[in-house]
Amino acid sequence: MEVAADSDAGVAEREAKRARQAAELMPRSVAVDRALGWLSAVYLGLCCVVLAPALSLLIPLMLLRLRKRELANASTGEGGSLTAIKALCARAVAAACGFGPDALAVPMIQRCSLTGPGVGGWLFTQFYWRSIVLGFRLTRRVYVDQLVAPFLQRMPFGEVTYMHARTCWLDDVVTGFAGALEGELGQLVILGAGYDTRGRRLTLPESVRCFEVDAPGTQAAKRALLEALGQGEGDVTYVSCDFATQRWIDVLHREGFDFGVPTLFVWEGVTMYLTPALVAETLRVVRQCAPGSRIAFDYLLHRWAFDPALQAKATRAREPWQFGLREGEQEPFVQQQGLAVLEHLRRDELLRRYLPRRADGESMGVLADFGGFVLAGRPG
Ligand SMILES: C[S@@+](CC[C@H](N)C(=O)[O-])C[C@H]1O[C@@H](n2cnc3c(N)ncnc32)[C@H](O)[C@@H]1O
Repeated sequence: MEVAADSDAGVAEREAKRARQAAELMPRSVAVDRALGWLSAVYLGLCCVVLAPALSLLIPLMLLRLRKRELANASTGEGGSLTAIKALCARAVAAACGFGPDALAVPMIQRCSLTGPGVGGWLFTQFYWRSIVLGFRLTRRVYVDQLVAPFLQRMPFGEVTYMHARTCWLDDVVTGFAGALEGELGQLVILGAGYDTRGRRLTLPESVRCFEVDAPGTQAAKRALLEALGQGEGDVTYVSCDFATQRWIDVLHREGFDFGVPTLFVWEGVTMYLTPALVAETLRVVRQCAPGSRIAFDYLLHRWAFDPALQAKATRAREPWQFGLREGEQEPFVQQQGLAVLEHLRRDELLRRYLPRRADGESMGVLADFGGFVLAGRPG
């Protein structure tokens, strides 16, 4: 069965809903925006004063702890991926501010630490995400994104902005895919799921089976967290797999994946952590799946992924970046793996679609031209 494209009506409806939400959140006068701009500068300064001493104590401690773990990839070991907690944190901030869709991220981040186990890291995390939310309520600015703004030529992300756009776009892709199935069987496979909550928060038809594939450490930590929150296993089949040492499709197949059923693979915030060969191999798997199967993923531009400062940061977190695409080679790379590019979104379109705007037309968050979001599928 060929899965039809998401209807224009569905997309328009979601855009209208976001516009209504933005109108409720953002001040509707340029004068008020200016006043809030000044207030946000003061708030940002205060946050820097409070956070700087905390960070100067915590960062050396965190590096010591990471060194002790001596893992090539933190995702596979006990406690799992810290970058997955970072993504969760951004979604929790967006939800608590009132513009993000992932409400479950809020109780989840309340039990997590961005710096690994330990009361200090947990306290820091709680202070950190709550201070961003408080800042947004006061000033209608996301202060961590403001802090990044002057360095956009050196750092690609507004952390909340980027993750929020990514979550919204992938939610749209998943609901569009599920809707287009029109009751037929389908599969949703979330690769490198981290603290993804789509299996719970998006109302998927019963005919769609959901799998989450992730490294053992991250997956165990996530399941323990959901258990502690009384969320149980949900209707999700968990598949534990290290992409670097196991063929994930074989592991998934053993857990019940059906090659004959149209499948959407969601691959959010993962390609940068894998080798180019592994990324290419994963794309080629989609070609072996049923007609209508798709994969949705984000990639970094090569110049960001291999920027020495950012490389050093990712390597210190024991989750080194290994993959990026040069300008102009993105779509050919996907096509070389036998897939058609169905959608390829870059910064400007993401800001337009997903970021609430102030009265002066500026987005409340910043985003550099980090790379893009791609939806690819079997051609024909
Ligand atoms: C930045 S996190 C993104 C998590 C989630 N998709 C999200 O956006 O919130 C990267 C994810 O990739 C997973 N990952 C990284 N390397 C992996 C590997 N070799 N095998 C399996 N999973 C891996 C980590 O466990 C983590 O869940």
